[in-house]
Amino acid sequence: MRDFDEFTVTEAAVARVRQAPDPRVREISEALVRHLHAFVREVEPSFEEWQQGIEFLTRTGQMCDDKRQEFILLSDTLGVSMLVDAINHRGAEGATETTILGPFYVDAAPEAPLGAKISAGMAGEPLLVTGSIASSDGRPLAGAVIDVWHSDDDGYYDVQHLEEVGGLALRARFRAGEGGRFHFWTIKPKAYPIPHDGPVGRMLAAQGRHPWRPAHVHFMIEAPQHRKLVTHVFVAGDAYLDSDAVFGVKESLIRELEPLPAGVAPDGTTVDRPYFHLYYDFALTPEREARGAA
Ligand code: BEZ
Ligand code: FE
Repeated sequence: MRDFDEFTVTEAAVARVRQAPDPRVREISEALVRHLHAFVREVEPSFEEWQQGIEFLTRTGQMCDDKRQEFILLSDTLGVSMLVDAINHRGAEGATETTILGPFYVDAAPEAPLGAKISAGMAGEPLLVTGSIASSDGRPLAGAVIDVWHSDDDGYYDVQHLEEVGGLALRARFRAGEGGRFHFWTIKPKAYPIPHDGPVGRMLAAQGRHPWRPAHVHFMIEAPQHRKLVTHVFVAGDAYLDSDAVFGVKESLIRELEPLPAGVAPDGTTVDRPYFHLYYDFALTPEREARGAA
C-alpha cells in the first residue's frame, strides 16, 4: 500500500507495528503510534513547531549524564512519574503511601547507628526524627533497613555540591531497632527548586510554572518479604505543598514539625537549644499481597 494521507497513515503505521512478535512490544508500539498520531492531529503543529519539539527532545537527551537525568525530570514535571508510581501501587491497603524517588538517592549511603547525627556539622535548625517500621498487618519490623536523605538549610542536596560540603551529608542508612523503632538527629530540610537550568526548566517557564518542591525528608525502607517502600515525609505548612513541581505530595505524608524547648529530648539526649521533632510510623506491604494486587 502507498499514497498515505492524513486519513490513512495512522492505520497503516498501527498495522506495521502490529507485526512485532513480542505481544507486549506489540501492545506498547500500537498504543504509542495511536496516541502520538492523536496528539499531532489535535495540535496540528507547523513545521517550525515540530522542529522545535525535536530540538527540545534532543537537548533533553544531551543534558543527561551520570549526574543529571533530564528525561526523568521531564517525566516528573509532566506528572508521568507519579502516574507510573500510582499504577504500580494499586490496592496497597494499610501501607504507607509512596511517592517519587527523585534523582538525589545515593546507593550505599553510610550506615549509621540509631540516634546518630547525620548533619556533618552543617548549619541549620536541629531536628529529631523518630518513628517505627511495621508490616501493614501491624507486625513490627525490627532490622528493616531505612535509607534517609534530604536537602540542607539552603535547599541543596550534598551531591549537588559535594566538594563544598566535603563528602556525603544529610543522608544515612539505619537499621530499625526493637519494635521496629528508629530515631536520628539532623537539621530541618528546606524547600528547593528542582534543577531548572536545562530544557525542562525552560519548559516550566514557558508553561508559567515554578520549579519548587516543598520541604521533605526522603525514605527508602526495605524489609524481608515486604515490598520496598519509597516515599517522603513533607513538612506541614510549607508554601509549596499545593504546587509541588513534580506532583509528589500526598496528604497522608504531611507531618507537623513539633517545636520543642532546649532540654532532655525524647531519646534522652540533652540539647542546649530549641529543636524540632518529626514523628512518622511507616507500614510496608507484605510481598504476597503486593503480588496479588499486581
Ligand atoms: C527530589 O525530591 O529529590 C526530586 C524529585 C524529582 C525531581 C527533582 C528532585
Ligand atoms: Fe527531594
